[in-house]
Amino acid sequence: MELEFCAPCLFGLEGPLGNELRHLGLRDVRVEDGRVYFTGGPRDMALTNIRSRFAERVLIVVGRTEAGDFDSLFEGVRAMEWEKFIPRAGAFPVKGYTHQSAITSMPALQRSINKAVAARLGRVYGLERLPETGETYQIQFALVRDEATLYIDTTGPGLHKRGYRPDQVEAPIRETLAAALVDISGYRGRGDFCDPFCGSGTIAIEAALAAKNRAPGLGRSFTAESWKNIRPDWENVRKEARSREFDRDYTIFASDIDPDAVKIARRNAERAGVDKLIRFSVADAGKFALSTNGGIIVTNPPYGERLLDIRAAREIMRDFGKAMKGITGWKVNIISSDPELERYFGYRAAKVRKLYNGMIKCGYFMF
Ligand SMILES: C[S@@+](CC[C@H](N)C(=O)[O-])C[C@H]1O[C@@H](n2cnc3c(N)ncnc32)[C@H](O)[C@@H]1O
Repeated sequence: MELEFCAPCLFGLEGPLGNELRHLGLRDVRVEDGRVYFTGGPRDMALTNIRSRFAERVLIVVGRTEAGDFDSLFEGVRAMEWEKFIPRAGAFPVKGYTHQSAITSMPALQRSINKAVAARLGRVYGLERLPETGETYQIQFALVRDEATLYIDTTGPGLHKRGYRPDQVEAPIRETLAAALVDISGYRGRGDFCDPFCGSGTIAIEAALAAKNRAPGLGRSFTAESWKNIRPDWENVRKEARSREFDRDYTIFASDIDPDAVKIARRNAERAGVDKLIRFSVADAGKFALSTNGGIIVTNPPYGERLLDIRAAREIMRDFGKAMKGITGWKVNIISSDPELERYFGYRAAKVRKLYNGMIKCGYFMF
């Protein structure tokens, strides 16, 4: 069975996600703003859920239809082959968004799509009323400029929920973003790696998972695992992912000035199964003095948006920059929402990439 998929991602991560999906062997990879489309079979659905580090979720594209008014939306949705995915007893709640379109009422859109899918399935299964007592097939729609794209979600809770971070500090970075920052930095498990503002440890943990080539989705389940019509061998995909792991000697450092954050980070690393790979310590980044030959720093210091005020955040950057003056060999990569970061850190970035950390517009400053 040939399927079209859509993997939404955080803005700014489309490029790394597209490369990752090509690397995973997926076909027709097409990068758009905030999402990447690709083609594959049922096994690819399991593979992407289990192995993608940067996607937020994996959706099946059921179809597209013109939707300038409710009639064309209803007819277009009813014409789609929902029975390929949703069995007789499947439940199919609907959610989505609309943008620059004539229809704007969310409840009316949900009702109309739900009725159209029910009309289709009712006819195919010869039922007046569908029981919707079985497993869930979450329908999503995007109505953009009067064209609706209809999806079914295969993932459930977002892919950033790897399962290792029930405990977190106040402003944790999303796991998918942390993984992408590590990837963009060029860290591939060789040489030293450090996050001197580690908080709950996300960046160091994602660096360790990537270095070991451990699939990020091994510690969780996915909504499509309960489906009846599309049943790839999930266990086999997990087994194959495990067989791709390798062990080397890694030197990954993670520190934070807050002892409670370091405790949390350690526990998270244990849950992710990478605590042996990371050397945690309580340390002030303003006194950064790792006596190694250098390596790669990827870090997410306080911005003064969610934690501290901007003046205090800038003071911390000034101290960190001063500490780095005496040290050679470290390539520093900082994600921050402060447009003045370079001034306070005391270096000019070779490159700044635009990214979003949640709703906060940020730069990824690469020195
Ligand atoms: C935005 S949070 C990092 C969040 C982390 N990326 C995560 O996913 O949990 C910034 C962290 O910097 C730490 N911090 C603040 N000042 C510091 C300093 N001078 N040295 C080291 N860490 C510091 C805070 O304790 C906080 O945990």
